[in-house]
Amino acid sequence: MMKDVIISVEDVSIRFNLAREKVDNLKDFLIRKAKGKIAYDEFWALQHINLEIERGSSVGLIGLNGCGKSTLLKTIAGVLKPTTGKVTVKGSMAPLIELGAGFDMDLTARENVFLNGAILGYSRKEMEQYYDDIVAFSELQDFMDVPIKNFSSGMISRIAFAIATIGKPDVLIVDEVLAVGDFRFQQKCEERIKKMMTQDTTVLFVSHSIEQVKMICEKAAWIEAGHLKMYGDVQEICDLYQQS
Ligand SMILES: Nc1ncnc2c1ncn2[C@@H]1O[C@H](COP(=O)(O)OP(=O)(O)O)[C@@H](O)[C@H]1O
Ligand SMILES: [Mg+2]
Repeated sequence: MMKDVIISVEDVSIRFNLAREKVDNLKDFLIRKAKGKIAYDEFWALQHINLEIERGSSVGLIGLNGCGKSTLLKTIAGVLKPTTGKVTVKGSMAPLIELGAGFDMDLTARENVFLNGAILGYSRKEMEQYYDDIVAFSELQDFMDVPIKNFSSGMISRIAFAIATIGKPDVLIVDEVLAVGDFRFQQKCEERIKKMMTQDTTVLFVSHSIEQVKMICEKAAWIEAGHLKMYGDVQEICDLYQQS
């Protein structure tokens, strides 16, 4: 049978430019920039990444802090444009990357549900249909009319997760957002992710907990200093990673 590749990452590199010198103020910066006197250090956060992910599979990204996991997820989600190379995703995407990125802290939880839904491409009518499920799953019935600036990070992650997992996204991206929830809610999220996998959703997952990666993912991609070091069976890769 032909492989059904849903995400393909072809020779992707990402370069960040870091201003090398400290400038005292904006005016100084602009003058020096106009004169071409601002020097940048180039930093390659990802280098020549090649990865093919099959539809319906679940892949954990593992590696030390700063190795490039979030950068790769943002590139796949289309938030970052690759400096070189190409990313192709065949389907819809629900990215849970930076907690609260699609939220307005001054609005209530209820208003944020609709705002976030709009960002994910749902109509108001569709969101009205999903609303009760979102409230029930996040268990925030009593807080829906409270501005979310009063929420804890755990509460925000509950509602963000509930919104991201409505409908049937082809790709679900979860980048360390479960860490802030309590144990019971983490389990609930794990169950929902697994259920989505049985419905053919492809999952990209990052967690501090290797045990959680083993529990949820079939495959693992080990990233080391911006390079894809290994990609394969989750047990095998995680064991090698933990022994390293
Ligand atoms: N916007 C940015 N500008 C400059 N450097 C960045 C930026 N985003 C990430 N980096 C750097 O890229 C590297 C990879 O970061 P990241 O992908 O967040 O790592 P991880 O998620 O694996 O902890 C780190 O060294 C980080 O400091
Ligand atoms: Mg990260």
